[in-house]
Amino acid sequence: MVSKIAEKSKVTRVISFAAGDPDPDVIPRALYANLAKRVFEEERKSVTYSPTEGIPELREEITRFMGMYEGVEASPSDIIVTVGGSQALDLIGKLMMDPGDIVIVENPSYVNTLLVWKPYGVRLIGIPMDENGMDTHLLESKLRELKADGKFPKLIYTIPTGQNPTGITMSLDRRKHLYEIASQYDLLIVEDGAYNQLVYEQVEVKSIKSMDVEGRVIFVGSFSKVLGTGLRVGWLHLPRELVDVFKATKGPADMCAPVPSQLIVYRILREGLFKEIKENAIKAYKEKRDLMLDAIDKYLHVIKHTHPVAGMFIFLWLPEHIDGWRLAEEVLEKKAVATIPGAPFYTDQTGRNTLRLNFSMAPRDLIDRGVRDLSEFIK
Ligand SMILES: Cc1ncc(COP(=O)(O)O)c(C=O)c1O
Repeated sequence: MVSKIAEKSKVTRVISFAAGDPDPDVIPRALYANLAKRVFEEERKSVTYSPTEGIPELREEITRFMGMYEGVEASPSDIIVTVGGSQALDLIGKLMMDPGDIVIVENPSYVNTLLVWKPYGVRLIGIPMDENGMDTHLLESKLRELKADGKFPKLIYTIPTGQNPTGITMSLDRRKHLYEIASQYDLLIVEDGAYNQLVYEQVEVKSIKSMDVEGRVIFVGSFSKVLGTGLRVGWLHLPRELVDVFKATKGPADMCAPVPSQLIVYRILREGLFKEIKENAIKAYKEKRDLMLDAIDKYLHVIKHTHPVAGMFIFLWLPEHIDGWRLAEEVLEKKAVATIPGAPFYTDQTGRNTLRLNFSMAPRDLIDRGVRDLSEFIK
């Protein structure tokens, strides 16, 4: 789909609801230019390898960040800076998954995590979601069923806030229940916090990691969705006993995350700039989310869809007979509107009639028109 969108964009102006990026015009690129200049002028180490776990001063700042924004008491020695959350997720697969292992995910879940873990030979089991996130009662009965069969999953993967692809945010009760269940069955949780900082309403949520008194949560962090995907800076906050083995596996694979990016992110955090960048992003994307929800209400009101309080996506359930793949291809071809079919995010054959729309990257003045064109095509 992505290559088809790129092809189409060469010949006509495409209204894209396909991305998973923040808006490059919301990101303060001039500020970054200035920081980058200072980084290269002032830091000899900007052009060298860093320790594989990241430059110490950034790990200190991420530790502070975990306290301030995620309510987690961390220590720099538990933090490994990665090439985005993507590398963190790949490392988890590489180190922890063996052929035949069962891995529990939300259904649907982030397609790249599914794609990056599948080659390790795991069996992915998807737990349905509702508007409060993963249905933890269904999770409980699935675990009971597996246990009766002598099977124990390797871990539970969740994107609790502004989930990709649905935009759903897991309620606090569900988070607590999920943690209780993991504790009862002695399972690890991988908490993907990629969208934790993009919350548009007053909601009572906290990271699952902040409830972790037993050292069973691996937190995957990313600066991509607020600071920009191109910087490629993410991190792992690991239970202590896992740190060394993760470092030993990461080092030979990449040496380190890009050092200029590490230094830029470090300065953004140290100089107290993150808060303002985040607040501007929230303001801009909240407005775009509202424009998209209004347009959906206006043109597509009969279609079931999510009402995200966080993240970047709205998820649509089209009438059963509509195939999301075909629709996405045809609406791109005939109306120059790019969307992402929901089916690849599912662990099973359900979800063929779904579509993911991104609201963070589309130009404000084209959101209404894009949704109108999409709805005309569906009708
Ligand atoms: C849920 C989720 N996790 C992780 C990532 C990876 O992002 P990055 O590697 O840019 O940090 C993404 C990107 O779309 C995502 O949606």
